[in-house]
Amino acid sequence: MNPAFFDLVGNVRAMRRLKPDPVPMELIWKVLNAGVQAPSGQNTQPWKFVLISDSERKKWFAERYIQAIESRFHADAGERKANPGRQLRALYYQMDHMHEAPYLLLVCGERDWPFKVPLDQRIGEGPPNYGAVYPCVQNILLACRALGLGAALTTMHQVQEMTFVNKWGSDG
Ligand SMILES: Cc1cc2nc3c(=O)[nH]c(=O)nc-3n(C[C@H](O)[C@H](O)[C@H](O)COP(=O)(O)O)c2cc1C
Repeated sequence: MNPAFFDLVGNVRAMRRLKPDPVPMELIWKVLNAGVQAPSGQNTQPWKFVLISDSERKKWFAERYIQAIESRFHADAGERKANPGRQLRALYYQMDHMHEAPYLLLVCGERDWPFKVPLDQRIGEGPPNYGAVYPCVQNILLACRALGLGAALTTMHQVQEMTFVNKWGSDG
């Protein structure tokens, strides 16, 4: 038994109110190193990371996250005032302060057909390889927690995926 592990795994929560304090790059490498220990089918490791620390880029990304949330949840100003619950209040805080976090880490997964789908049965693009990305993401969240770093998983920005690809390229 390793009680420390069970404490850790039981305390990984989505932390949406983050301090803007700087985080040493050394810790980010530890976190990423934990991420890449994750399993992936045939050990293909089909993830790539984009670490955003530049203020302007963080703002640019955060604006697109806000647009994504507003378009999906209709979270306009009126909705925000309408007495949102605890989780929505945290979400609105996160939207407004996302650019203040020291880092935004994008964990990107390749689009790929599941193993052994024959070429003639592939129609259109392969689906995003979420199965490979989420174990990596969870390792990252666990590592952040173990190091005392706040972190929250977000996915809503995916509606803007092509905007990011066009700006930063598909190679990340
Ligand atoms: C696939 C997936 C997508 C998620 N997307 C978002 C998101 O876009 N924004 C967000 O604030 N939280 C997101 N979350 C976090 C969940 O809302 C959160 O984990 C859940 O409410 C449980 O809260 P807890 O992690 O604090 O226990 C996502 C979690 C998962 C697993």
